[in-house]
Amino acid sequence: MKVYVLNGVNLGRLGTRQTDIYGVTTYEALAEMCAGAGKELGLDVEVRQTDSEAELVGWLHQAADERAPVVLNPAAWSHYSIAVRDACAMLNAPLIEVHLSNIHAREEFRHHSVVSAVASGVICGLGVDGYRLALLHLAQR
Ligand code: DQA
Repeated sequence: MKVYVLNGVNLGRLGTRQTDIYGVTTYEALAEMCAGAGKELGLDVEVRQTDSEAELVGWLHQAADERAPVVLNPAAWSHYSIAVRDACAMLNAPLIEVHLSNIHAREEFRHHSVVSAVASGVICGLGVDGYRLALLHLAQR
């Protein structure tokens, strides 16, 4: 089963970006971990990151066309992008929203995600383990 792990704006800076909040795992290590977890679970995992909202929307369209499940960290777009939410609503397979940090324990503007209402499930606050757990869930379905 093909699974897309899509990461939004600024997540390419993981490892150096606010490490007290997001941890020291680099984006490259996260991508490797997801691919490795996918291999163990029998999933064909493709990991991508972009700072372009239009590019992310295009990838979501592709996942919708392929009826592929998606693990998505929409990053800052979670909190205001109706375009990302609308693209997520078009998916034809499960969508797991992941946040490294516990967005509910942070600034008020992070407490609401416009994506969550169209996600199958949401994992937040478990750091990079959240991605692994999302993939485990998809493999077990
Ligand atoms: C994030 C939380 C968002 O509020 C933030 O804008 C991010 C990362 C997380 O993974 O914890 O960029 O999605």
